[in-house]
Amino acid sequence: MTIEKFICGIPKAELHVHIEGTFEPELMFEIAQRNNIKIKYKSIDDLRKAYDFSNLQEFLDIYYDGASVLIHERDFYDMTWAYIKKLHSQNVLHAEIFFDPQTHTDRGIQFSTVITGIHKALENAEKEFGMSTKLIMCFLRHLDEEQAFQTLEQALEYKDWIVAIGLDSSEIGHPPSKFQRVFEKAQARGFLTVAHAGEEGPPEYVWETLNLLNVTRIDHGNRALEDDTLVQLLVQKQIPLTVCPLSNLKLRVVDKLENHPLKKMMNNGLLVTINSDDPAYFRGQLNDNYLKLSKALRLTIDDIYQLAKNSFTASFLSDSEKLSYIKKVDDYEK
Ligand code: HPA
Ligand code: ZN
Repeated sequence: MTIEKFICGIPKAELHVHIEGTFEPELMFEIAQRNNIKIKYKSIDDLRKAYDFSNLQEFLDIYYDGASVLIHERDFYDMTWAYIKKLHSQNVLHAEIFFDPQTHTDRGIQFSTVITGIHKALENAEKEFGMSTKLIMCFLRHLDEEQAFQTLEQALEYKDWIVAIGLDSSEIGHPPSKFQRVFEKAQARGFLTVAHAGEEGPPEYVWETLNLLNVTRIDHGNRALEDDTLVQLLVQKQIPLTVCPLSNLKLRVVDKLENHPLKKMMNNGLLVTINSDDPAYFRGQLNDNYLKLSKALRLTIDDIYQLAKNSFTASFLSDSEKLSYIKKVDDYEK
């Protein structure tokens, strides 16, 4: 079997993907047209050419712009369903998906419109493909604490549809401590917590997510490697890091994939997973992340089995669900 086929077929979970980052230009143009919204790029090709970023902020500016054509429940459904089909074609059996409600409520779209469209597509994933999913609501960290509190209030009505609260957007200058109180409230209401940290921000931000936001998982976490004590703690507690190799390359967190720290993280005993982050913008679905990184770092077949198992271990599934998915990985023949 080729490495491509092996990676494509192995059962796996996606734990770090922003639904707005799965929005492919073709569908964006189609939805813009039906909503009578003008896109500032003349063609799909022109838009794709703009996907050349030197840092996180340059990407975010274009990503928020792209999301602005989403108006109706059907738009959120279509974007989510298109992505579910992509996951299914890659043998992704379970997905934990972020959404950024403030990107839409700030434009006057109702919270209910956003979450209902996404949720209906996730229900359909279970029905059509037997795929399990969970939804994680992120606060935009460039906005203030009060706006996060308001967003949490809106989420409470949909408590059963949301497993965890996360934190994303511009990291530098917006430390986790800014959201300590709203995360405390979210936890008191029964949400799990995760946060992006150590993508561009320093190890101190990773410490803050652990000590102040009480996260059970860290998104990215690359810069944790700069602090040995922090690494020891992450290893000891087996706090997962959801790592996104092609995102790291496209946002210049690493200069080339050959220098990506994933293998080093595994060797250190960290519980790491491979994820796609914003596949429409970084030109790489989940399996492309596995494949390109495997080639660049010369990962072994055993490494790939381990990473696929980690993706279930690090998920928010129950212990029995994790075991049954991990058995599927073990039963997968190379
Ligand atoms: N980092 C922070 N915020 C984001 C990202 C990311 O990689 N993708 C979408 N929102
Ligand atoms: Zn992310």
